[in-house]
Amino acid sequence: MTLSQREFGRTGWNVSEIGFGAWAIGGSWGGVGEDDAKAALNAALDNGVTFIDTADVYGDGRSERIIRDVLRERGGERPIVATKLGRRLDPHVAQAYTNRQALAGFIDRSLSNLGVDTLDLVQLHCPPTEVYYYPEVFEAMDEFVAAGKIRFYGVSVEKVEEALKAIEYPNVMSVQIIYNMFRQRPADLFFRQAQKKKVAVIARVPLASGMLTGKLSADSVFAADDHRAFNRHGEAFDVGETFSGVPYDIALQAVDELRSLVPVDASMAQLALRWILMEDAVTVVIPGSKNATQAMSNVAGANLAPLSVEAMQRVREVYERLIAPQVHQRW
Ligand SMILES: NC(=O)c1ccc[n+]([C@@H]2O[C@H](COP(=O)([O-])OP(=O)(O)OC[C@H]3O[C@@H](n4cnc5c(N)ncnc54)[C@H](OP(=O)(O)O)[C@@H]3O)[C@@H](O)[C@H]2O)c1
Repeated sequence: MTLSQREFGRTGWNVSEIGFGAWAIGGSWGGVGEDDAKAALNAALDNGVTFIDTADVYGDGRSERIIRDVLRERGGERPIVATKLGRRLDPHVAQAYTNRQALAGFIDRSLSNLGVDTLDLVQLHCPPTEVYYYPEVFEAMDEFVAAGKIRFYGVSVEKVEEALKAIEYPNVMSVQIIYNMFRQRPADLFFRQAQKKKVAVIARVPLASGMLTGKLSADSVFAADDHRAFNRHGEAFDVGETFSGVPYDIALQAVDELRSLVPVDASMAQLALRWILMEDAVTVVIPGSKNATQAMSNVAGANLAPLSVEAMQRVREVYERLIAPQVHQRW
């Protein structure tokens, strides 16, 4: 399969427009066996994916180590591997991000987990909003670049306002943000600003935690260690990370209204991914895949024909009527 490439901001990299989200192969999504995890990643890479997103806390390093092992086994040209830091700070408060030694320790641990000398891209992992007002945190990241520990850095944000503030720092190369058919506000203002500054945009949670695959129902049951069971009301982390913060019953209704847009021979997940790729400001979409079948199907989403004007309007209409009142002003 050929996957189109997009320019990754000012880094000089070109990456596949569909990437691989490696949270589920780490943890917090019910059990994903190592064989399935490796098969998922291999299927994505075999089909042209050249960008992987992980974090030091996904399975407490398991995700990073699986990536290391798969890339070692495969050899050859390496994809770009983006990781994240900050969530290991305890307590996870804004002031803790000013502790350079702690950040340096996290970087060393990710270097070891990933088995590399330099990390390609390190993202601040949804820090408290206040951190964007601490220039010393960004200066510390500049120092890690100068020391050769990391090549580039970016941020992963919860809110549009955090994204706008983050890109005031000249060396922030990328912003990762939730953007999908249920989370459209980033397109209102932030995407144009990101384009102006040539900042890469990583669109995460593209399937609204599986909701936008169309396979869930009122009777779906999730394992106790799946965040879709334990974070439904934001008990463990920002509620927006689970089903994009849309109440389950409303999300199901919206999904039903979107079903008629799914092209023949395609899946709703593919429609959801193609919808995101309609936006030029998006550099890479990172669906989380738990097995090879999901990974292959997600990559194939890029090959769907562009959505018609009518289809885009219909998505917007469903969003404005059912979804926007739940999420638009919250993130
Ligand atoms: N704070 C942050 O920085 C942050 C937060 C969240 C995510 N992320 C990143 O974004 C990535 C993607 O987001 P996400 O994993 O949370 O959510 P997502 O991509 O919206 O949904 C992933 C889930 O949907 C299901 N799925 C995926 N492909 C499918 C397919 N083709 N058919 C049917 N079901 C499918 C799988 O779960 P089931 O099969 O169990 O339904 C999978 O775990 C993560 O892996 C991570 O890299 C970052």
